Amino acid sequence: TRLAVLYGGRSGEHAVSRRSGESILAALDRERYQITEVLIGTDGAWHVDGRPTPLPQALRVVRAQDVVFPALHGPYGEDGTVASLLEWVGVPYVGNGVFASAAGMDKGVTKRLLAAEGLRVSPGVTLRPGEDLSPADQRRLGLPVFVKPARAGSSLGVVKVTDWASLPAALERARAVDPKVLVEQGARGREIDVAVLQHPDGRVQAGPPLEIRVAGDGFFDYDAKYDGGAVFEIPAPLDAATTEDLRDRAIRAFHALDCRGLLRVDFFLPGEGAEPIVNEVNTFPGFTAASQFPQIWRRAGIGFPALLDILIDGALA
Ligand code: DAL
Ligand code: MG
Repeated sequence: TRLAVLYGGRSGEHAVSRRSGESILAALDRERYQITEVLIGTDGAWHVDGRPTPLPQALRVVRAQDVVFPALHGPYGEDGTVASLLEWVGVPYVGNGVFASAAGMDKGVTKRLLAAEGLRVSPGVTLRPGEDLSPADQRRLGLPVFVKPARAGSSLGVVKVTDWASLPAALERARAVDPKVLVEQGARGREIDVAVLQHPDGRVQAGPPLEIRVAGDGFFDYDAKYDGGAVFEIPAPLDAATTEDLRDRAIRAFHALDCRGLLRVDFFLPGEGAEPIVNEVNTFPGFTAASQFPQIWRRAGIGFPALLDILIDGALA
């Protein structure tokens, strides 16, 4: 099988995608796959097997593949733009299509779609350029709030605001990443991720919930994500009913966003018996061997190479 792995990319998560891509490249079965490495630079330049390649030529290489594995995070990768390119080129690809990727990249849009599905989400307000949070919204949301770029990942540009005086600076920081920002009520509670995997026969499965424990009183920010400031526990110590509820909600989120292949749904569990809150989704979650998604499936008995095979077979099915 001729397979191209796309990684890197123009977004702020370029470095994370390189790590995901390198883990995938290291784990793929070289007997089964004839691999082409396509690295996209932060400047948007494409490199095929290490050589700078003009886009039309790179797309000819991509078109000659049996299947493409886009291992990109963030805008210009995970947001449907690359999926659209692959649709045009007409090559099967792993994971989510244009709609799910675009909807899942935008935290405001995701919230609306999931709320319409009946899933609990944190109250939040989308602010466009020049807009401020109204006093009524300040009272409704309460402190703390999280200020988030609407379309970004890995917590880039996310600021926790614990007094209203620091809101303008937080908005400025988030707006440097995306002019569209979200001010969200700070959800409290345990942080639980659920991985959803679609098998080549179409069956959709949710894995054992993973609990994230962050040292100190911080949140699961960029440093905690990638500098080892967090510990994962799989399965999360939860009663059977809560586990089933989370898995069911994750699968509902998968369908609400019209996903394909995979999705990681990140929850807050506010307390014993309280309704779980969907914090966000990732249509192409971190894929280093140590990331949540591969770890969850390893715990479920699906090792990293087997996980890659399932995703690739799904794209080819
Ligand atoms: N956006 C990063 C890669 C994640 O959520 O895993
Ligand atoms: Mg994310």
